[in-house]
Amino acid sequence: MNSCVPPVAESLLQPSAVLAPPARTMRRRVLAVGVIGPGRVGSALLEQLRASQPRLRRDLGLVLDLRGVVASRQMWLDSDDPELNARHARAQTWRPNDLDEFAAHLRGEDGRHALLVDCSASDEVADRYADWLNAGIHVATPNKLAGSGPLKRWQAIRMACAGGNAWFRCEATVCAGLPVVQTLRDFVDTGDELLDVEGMFSGTLAWLCNRHDGSQPFSALLREAHALGYTEPDPRSDLSGMDVARKLVILAREAGLPLSLEDVAVESLVPPALAALSLEDFMRRMDELDAPMAAKLAEARAGGGVLRHVGRLGRDGRASVRLAVLPREHAFAHTRLTDNVVQFRTRRYRDNPMLVQGPGAGPEVTAAGVFADVLRIAESLGAQA
Ligand SMILES: NC(=O)c1ccc[n+]([C@@H]2O[C@H](COP(=O)([O-])OP(=O)(O)OC[C@H]3O[C@@H](n4cnc5c(N)ncnc54)[C@H](OP(=O)(O)O)[C@@H]3O)[C@@H](O)[C@H]2O)c1
Repeated sequence: MNSCVPPVAESLLQPSAVLAPPARTMRRRVLAVGVIGPGRVGSALLEQLRASQPRLRRDLGLVLDLRGVVASRQMWLDSDDPELNARHARAQTWRPNDLDEFAAHLRGEDGRHALLVDCSASDEVADRYADWLNAGIHVATPNKLAGSGPLKRWQAIRMACAGGNAWFRCEATVCAGLPVVQTLRDFVDTGDELLDVEGMFSGTLAWLCNRHDGSQPFSALLREAHALGYTEPDPRSDLSGMDVARKLVILAREAGLPLSLEDVAVESLVPPALAALSLEDFMRRMDELDAPMAAKLAEARAGGGVLRHVGRLGRDGRASVRLAVLPREHAFAHTRLTDNVVQFRTRRYRDNPMLVQGPGAGPEVTAAGVFADVLRIAESLGAQA
């Protein structure tokens, strides 16, 4: 704090004093919120919601009224309670999970605005989005299954939103809190034309490629990444490239291309012989990855390039996930640690593409991406008494 600033001037420098409209002109908006999946991301979101409530009420006139939390087996229904986040896990009032009852409780019968935040990785939950949206309940989620699952289900979700009664937002499904989905939507909505989108969509594979310089075997790096918690519990989930393929499908659909997971050409880094093993056996035989990865690195170096794990979607709908050899001066050759980077080429950004870069995973940044979606939905709501 600058000690030269007198107390009154200092208070004027607070964001609330500078930005908040006078109380009498502020619209009061109330949004009933239900959180599905109080796991890593869900718990971080509950914490962020709790911490932000006073500022949102004061500065935006927005009340996020937490009405309940549901986990895989149990749910807790309650009216807004600032203590909920601290005690939902040991509350006495848990009841068996019933998603229909949960949604009905949230929606109520008084015409309130209601929003479900799905922080699970459950197909069973994604199956219900269209019904909830049709009933006027907004949905925000980091769950990739709706955006990359069966096309028919995705189309039902879009149709349900078409009436304009409810919003579906899924920014955090691609690169967590980075503005990737919204950026793409803005290109489309403002009449730009997507030429291609390319990126390093896996923080784990970005880290492995950044560190794979031949000084130690690939399997040693993979073990280190596993120990640091950078990989999924089964590292083959990362190496298979399927998570990146899901992100490409989500982006393709946002761009209006009816892509499915089967349409993505995915080059897995797991040889068939290792793919079928138990996790324990895979962890023991990981060094079988060393020779093929060393050969790929040697090939990249022979051509004066670097190895990077790249997902690409073209405007013709062709999508691929593979280890690519890129020139040393390429933007993807200079990312940090587990950073994701996404490059959009559009008609307007043809010669000088737009880049979005930064941490693309982790509960806090993912929850923040979901929270931003919640706020965008809240912004669109009418005032209430
Ligand atoms: N973690 C990240 O960095 C990250 C980044 C981007 C996107 N995501 C996505 O965010 C979502 C959550 O990830 P996470 O890491 O928080 O997972 P997590 O820790 O495994 O939490 C998942 C939660 O979902 C609940 N759940 C599962 N099935 C349910 C059902 N049928 N009904 C209600 N709740 C159910 C689980 O309940 P129980 O507690 O009872 O098991 C758990 O609370 C996933 O879709 C993931 O792909 C995560």
